[in-house]
Order: sequence, then structure tokens, then C-alpha cells
Amino acid sequence: MSRLTLSTLRRPLALMGAAAALLLAGCERPPVQTTQQGFRGTAMQHTVNPRTAAAQQAALPPVPADAPAIPDGPGPKAKDIYQNVKVLGDLPVADFVRHMNAITQWIAPNEGCAYCHNPANLAEDSKYTKVVARRMIEMTRNINANWTQHVAQTGVTCYTCHRGQAVPAQVWFKAKEPKQNTQPMLGNDFGQNKAIGGVAWTSLPYDPFTHYLSGKENIRVYTAQPLPQKGTERAPIQTAEQTYSLMMHFSQSLGQNCTFCHNTQAFSQWVPKKATAWHGIRMVREANNDYVTPLTSAFPGPRLGPTGDVAKVYCATCHQGVNKPLGGMQMAQLYPGLKGVAAQPAAAAAEAGASAAVAAAAAKPGAVVKSK
Ligand code: HEC
Ligand code: HEC
Ligand code: HEC
Ligand code: HEC
Repeated sequence: MSRLTLSTLRRPLALMGAAAALLLAGCERPPVQTTQQGFRGTAMQHTVNPRTAAAQQAALPPVPADAPAIPDGPGPKAKDIYQNVKVLGDLPVADFVRHMNAITQWIAPNEGCAYCHNPANLAEDSKYTKVVARRMIEMTRNINANWTQHVAQTGVTCYTCHRGQAVPAQVWFKAKEPKQNTQPMLGNDFGQNKAIGGVAWTSLPYDPFTHYLSGKENIRVYTAQPLPQKGTERAPIQTAEQTYSLMMHFSQSLGQNCTFCHNTQAFSQWVPKKATAWHGIRMVREANNDYVTPLTSAFPGPRLGPTGDVAKVYCATCHQGVNKPLGGMQMAQLYPGLKGVAAQPAAAAAEAGASAAVAAAAAKPGAVVKSK
């Protein structure tokens, strides 16, 4: 019988050591920072590893150097000098040119002014990119002026989405209708079970976006009553699956767990970050329905998706894996041309009514607000 000595154990010990090192390689080194996010005792904590966060911040794309804003003065305005300026006309001429330089860096740093302009006649609207860019300026202004409950004073610029490329890196198209196969064994995919990055590679429905980020369907899993009652709305199983799929997109886009926005003992409860996200959903719907989609006919065929729709905005378009896009960088402040004016009182009041209900509920645990 062989004796158990240190030398006979050396090899298995070395193997165990190597296995442990391999297993732990994916772990992050402590200490981490934890901040309380929600009500006490609900485990709503935001955990950040400062070293990982610093590495993420360092990996952000470089921001083009910002020239300081040129103050308004008695000099001529863009509309006094140029022929075809419909949105940025009130900027002093020098500041107008500074905006054009910035837009070029944000959208087409390699192609330059000619990406949107006929260099022989800058006033002409012959390139679709210029027509789209004008509407994009209006969209950016609308976000900065009317969606401060989401973007706060941080705001957004073209760079938030575009980051030096004409087509933002993260966009979505409407998915094709799921194919009903005639071969019974191949079945119908029912719009799910496909590995799609936008919903974090889950087997959940791969296009919750058409329902929720251009459509205005209810994002709900829970119902107010425990049993079906005549005349009450009940969320069907499909809605639950689509909701979870959208939630995977939220988590992935912000690089955060569900507990960033939810008290997971009661997902329906309103808490501050969930209220911010609620405004974000409405902001994204408006960007898609009032700005991006109406531009469809301006785009050339190769830019359109499988069903002929234009590339649209979702949470990842701005956030790109971070809870505050670009780490909360305050770029928009430097560009008065992207500030915009707040909406007419009537429209603003309707929106404010619904958002006040959400805000009030966020401060009052357990309240239920109807989805708008
Ligand atoms: C991403 C598209 C885009 C790029 C790139 C771009 N522009 Fe423009 N430019 C526009 C839009 C849109 C307008 C019209 C703005 C408006 O209606 O308020 C415009 C208008 C102008 C005008 C006014 C012309 C007139 O008489 O009406 C000038 C001048 C101009 N741009 C110069 C430049 C220069 C110089 C560059 C390169 C440094 C440049 N632009 C790059 C989109 C662009
Ligand atoms: C909320 C995100 C978002 C912001 C902010 C934004 N864009 Fe866009 N932009 C998009 C999306 C989505 C498309 C559609 C992609 C495509 O071209 O197929 C687009 C397309 C464009 C195109 C057409 C590019 C091409 O080659 O087809 C131009 C030009 C453009 N944007 C200019 C701008 C300018 C200028 C600003 C700032 C004033 C801006 N965008 C701000 C999301 C955004
Ligand atoms: C960025 C914030 C955010 C993140 C992260 C997030 N959610 Fe949500 N969630 C919301 C918002 C906002 C709503 C309500 C949407 C509405 O009413 O329009 C919601 C709704 C829900 C609902 C429906 C509740 C009801 O009343 O029926 C469930 C369930 C849910 N989320 C689960 C999850 C899960 C699971 C995760 C993690 C995979 C997650 N959420 C991640 C913001 C978030
Ligand atoms: C047009 C760009 C844009 C889009 C699209 C967008 N967000 Fe945001 N979001 C922002 C900005 C900018 C901030 C930072 C505001 C601030 O500084 O407080 C932010 C902040 C947030 C926060 C608070 C983060 C924190 O740390 O306090 C949440 C939650 C959030 N967004 C969720 C969403 C969800 C969910 C979606 C998609 C439905 C979405 N956002 C789409 C621009 C955007």
C-alpha cells in the first residue's frame, strides 16, 4: 500500500491550484463600492468596482476637442448671411461655423463637409444626408429642451449617438414576420429563440422594440387583480415575455442589473431610477415616431431594414453600455444651437400630468401607475 506523502500530493495540489486560479480569473478584485439605491431592506444596491469603472471610462471613444462657445453679439446672424438656414439661423455667424465643424467631427470626420454638402453650393439641399441632418438637429433640440426629466442638464449632442460615424453603432430595425414553415418539424419561431444581440442573446422575443419603442403597448407583467374579472385588463403571457425581453435590453444597454431600477420584491413599484427610465421610454418613442421614421423616404434603399423601415433609436443608441451616456459628460452645454425651446404649454401639460403621477408614485412605495 502506497503512503500518502506530500510528494504524492504535489501534483494534485498543483492541479487544484491551477484550477482555482482559472475559476477565479473571471472575478473582480475587491473592494467594491456599494450605494443604497432604494428603500431600506430591499437589497437595492448599486455596486461599482472603481477599477473596472475607470477602465470602462478610459475605453470610451475620444471626444473631438470642443472649441469654446462664441458669445452672441451685435454681429450678423447666420440667417442674415446664408440662403437656406431654417433651424440654426439665430446663431452668430462665427458660432454657426463652429457648429458645422463640430457636426462634421461627430458624423463624418473622414468625409468632411462634402458628406452633407455639394461643395460648389453649400445652400443646396441635394444630398439626403443634409436633409436628415437638419431634422436631427431639431430632434436633438427637442430632447434637450423637453426631456430634461430624462437627460437632465447633461443633455445630448449628435456625438452621444453617432460617435464619429454616420450610422450610430447601435440601432434597431423591425423584424420580419416570423416564418410559418410548411414542414411541421421546422415549426414557427413565433418571433423568438434566435440569438439577437439587442436582447442580450436570450431566447425571449427578439423584437420587443416594435411593440414598445415605436408602438405604445403596455409594458406589464403584473395585473392589479389576482383573478380574472369582467372588464379588467389582464397581461397575457406574450406581454410578459416581451416585457422581459425589453428589460434585458435595458440592463444590457446601461450595463446594470435589474436592481438598478427595481425593487425586485415588487417589480411594479415605482422607484427613482425606474421613473427616469419611464421618461426615457416615452422620449425614445417620440424620437422614433416624430423624427426618425418620417424621414424613411429620404433614405436610400441600402440604409433600410428587411421590412423597408429606417434604423431606429433604442436605449443602447445613446447609453452604449453605461448608465449615463459618455460617463455623464456635459457636452451639450457648449452648443447653444442644440439647446432648443421648450414645447407649447398644452402638449407639455399633458406630458407633465402623466409624469407627475409617476414621480409621485416613485416617492410612495407600492403605488401603481397606468402605463401611458
Ligand atoms: C452632417 C451634415 C453636415 C455636415 C457634415 C456639414 N454641414 Fe453645413 N449644413 C448642414 C445643415 C443641415 C445645414 C442647414 C442648417 C439649417 O437649416 O439651419 C447646413 C448649412 C450650412 C451652411 C449655410 C449655407 C447656406 O447658404 O444656406 C454653411 C455655410 C455650411 N453648412 C457650412 C459647412 C461647412 C464649412 C462644413 C464642414 C466643416 C459643413 N457645413 C458640414 C449639415 C451639415
Ligand atoms: C438619439 C440618437 C441620435 C442623435 C442624438 C442624432 N442622431 Fe443622427 N441618426 C440617428 C439614427 C438612428 C439614424 C439612422 C441611421 C441611418 O442613417 O440609417 C441617424 C442618421 C443620421 C444621418 C444619416 C447618415 C447616413 O449616412 O445615412 C445624418 C447625416 C445624421 N444622423 C446627422 C445627425 C446630426 C447632425 C445630429 C446632431 C444634430 C444627429 N444626427 C443626432 C440617431 C441619432
Ligand atoms: C433602466 C431601468 C430598468 C432596468 C435596468 C430594468 N427595468 Fe424592468 N422596468 C423598467 C420600467 C421603467 C418599467 C415600466 C415601464 C412602463 O410602465 O412603461 C419596467 C417594468 C418591468 C416589469 C413589469 C412590472 C409590472 O408592473 O407589470 C417587470 C416584471 C420588470 N420590469 C422586470 C425587470 C427585470 C427582470 C430586469 C432585469 C433583467 C429589469 N426589469 C431591468 C425599468 C427597468
Ligand atoms: C438620446 C439619448 C438617450 C437615450 C436614447 C436614452 N437615454 Fe437614458 N440617459 C441619457 C442621458 C444623457 C442620461 C444622463 C442624465 C444625467 O446626467 O442625469 C441618461 C440617464 C438614464 C438613467 C439614469 C442613470 C443614472 O445613473 O442616474 C436611466 C435609468 C436611463 N437613462 C434609462 C434609459 C432607458 C431605459 C432608455 C431606453 C428606453 C434610455 N435611457 C434611452 C440619454 C439617453
